Amino acid sequence: MSQDAWSDVDRYIGTMLLGEDEVLDATLRDSDAAGLPSISVSAAQGKLLHVLTMAMGARRILELGTLGGYSAIWLARALPPDGTLVTLELEAKHADVARRNLARAGLAERIDLRVGRALDLLPRLAAEGAAPFDLVFIDADKGSYTEYLDWAIRLSRPGTLIIADNVIRKGAVADPGSDDPNVAGIRRFLAAVAAEPRVTATAIQTVGTKGHDGLAFIVVLP
Ligand code: SAH
Ligand code: DHB
Ligand code: MG
Repeated sequence: MSQDAWSDVDRYIGTMLLGEDEVLDATLRDSDAAGLPSISVSAAQGKLLHVLTMAMGARRILELGTLGGYSAIWLARALPPDGTLVTLELEAKHADVARRNLARAGLAERIDLRVGRALDLLPRLAAEGAAPFDLVFIDADKGSYTEYLDWAIRLSRPGTLIIADNVIRKGAVADPGSDDPNVAGIRRFLAAVAAEPRVTATAIQTVGTKGHDGLAFIVVLP
């Protein structure tokens, strides 16, 4: 199998199960036009986040790394009417694009978008009493994933699902000699997950329009 075949299958899944979505298409189009990197989750992965949110009956979601708001839209659309998503973004330019995309999606009221370093914003969220979150999606800078795990657990309840993106990186995560700092960050994160007695977890490889990568699924134990 090659990238072309993976992309063909993602297109087939899109046609069969996801359908046309002018709001999501416009979100990616405007993000591209504004010069944001094309690193949102794929449509099939976004739908996975949506399906899991619904299956859990999640009412409060925390996302680290908003970019243009693409994954935030998939997640927030699965919330009940009184549900909320808090999403944290470092780059003011990304946040501006996201704010427009979220407004067009009709989700501005359900999404609390905050701009700054996640490690600065997380203690404020804790102090505000924003916890517990039912689902946490970790998708910001890979070097801080280990610290994000700590915060996610601190802001959790038993049963909270923590999902982390980009944990496979074309398989490089299995190479202890990789000199990619992002890979080193993910390896440190997965070691912290393994050593953390308050959670149990797995990681699943994915292929598709975004190449070969993967997601970690971590649940907070009772
Ligand atoms: N979740 C998005 C993609 C996020 S890309 C989606 O799938 O649609 C990663 C984002 O994390 C980028 O927008 C980047 O600016 C942001 N980021 C990087 N470092 C950060 C930090 N320290 N705190 C918060 N956001 C950060
Ligand atoms: C990349 C992909 C991502 O999903 C992300 O969050 C950061 C970087 C990438 O492909 O480089
Ligand atoms: Mg990602």
